[in-house]
Amino acid sequence: MVDARDLKSLGALPCAGSIPALGTFFFNELEIAHVCDQALGFFAFITTLRGVYQMDLLKGIKSRRSVRVFHKKVPSKKVIQECLESATWAPNPTNQQPWEFIVVTGERLKGISEIIVETFPQRMREMDPYHGIPKACEERKNETFEQLFTAAKRAGIDSKNLFQKNLTFYGAPVAIFFITYKAAHTLYRHSTVAALQNFLLAAHAKGLGTCWLSSVAACQDEIKAFLELSGEKEIVDGVALGYPVKDSPFNTIARKRVPVKEVIRWMGF
Ligand SMILES: Cc1cc2nc3c(=O)[nH]c(=O)nc-3n(C[C@H](O)[C@H](O)[C@H](O)COP(=O)(O)O)c2cc1C
Repeated sequence: MVDARDLKSLGALPCAGSIPALGTFFFNELEIAHVCDQALGFFAFITTLRGVYQMDLLKGIKSRRSVRVFHKKVPSKKVIQECLESATWAPNPTNQQPWEFIVVTGERLKGISEIIVETFPQRMREMDPYHGIPKACEERKNETFEQLFTAAKRAGIDSKNLFQKNLTFYGAPVAIFFITYKAAHTLYRHSTVAALQNFLLAAHAKGLGTCWLSSVAACQDEIKAFLELSGEKEIVDGVALGYPVKDSPFNTIARKRVPVKEVIRWMGF
């Protein structure tokens, strides 16, 4: 949920002095000017604004997008913790809550980026993740790359640097690592991914931008050593986090989804 306080911290709310002017605009729009008339004044305005900006869950799901250009400002520990608290409400096997989160910024994040830059290219060659993928997926993957390269061009970024940016969390001021226990089954991984998705949505609701990064899991052993994680743990994936540069061509790439009817098979209806 985005509330007025979050917007204020983002600089989206005007200072108190200019609130009446903005208030008139909103109140006209929303036909609630009588609230002011009834002398609820400032308090009513904030309450209304909270309502206006409250993010509907379904709208939030649809409007979340991967963010690849970030402002330098480091989000507060408070707001990050609130998003991670949402992560912990994900479904998980017998409520074992088999996850932990590591939040990294500054020099430590630089250190991890260096590890990824060093390790990932070789890992990528070994994994060969696009080999033999289904034709339909191949086409969508190619389209996505094309969009990213076009955005890079529009943003004046050499497409060769795009890969490097990917490996360095796209310059985000924070990275979050989603950790679980190693297990013979995949249930812990599934639930940690569910927690990760909750986190992405909560971050979006609070005006933050995120990008899920596959390079992190691929450099598992090296990052685990850096984070001093014990052998019983596994890094499920990592997420870049920060305030999005909203009008960057990278953050406004048109996103599409296959019409849902094409991916549903109804049975017994
Ligand atoms: C498992 C996984 C790994 C991903 N890895 C990367 C990545 O390494 N770099 C990147 O830019 N985006 C990565 N993404 C983000 C996807 O590219 C993105 O979700 C997809 O293009 C759809 O765009 P959207 O998130 O804006 O809807 C990853 C997403 C997932 C789920």
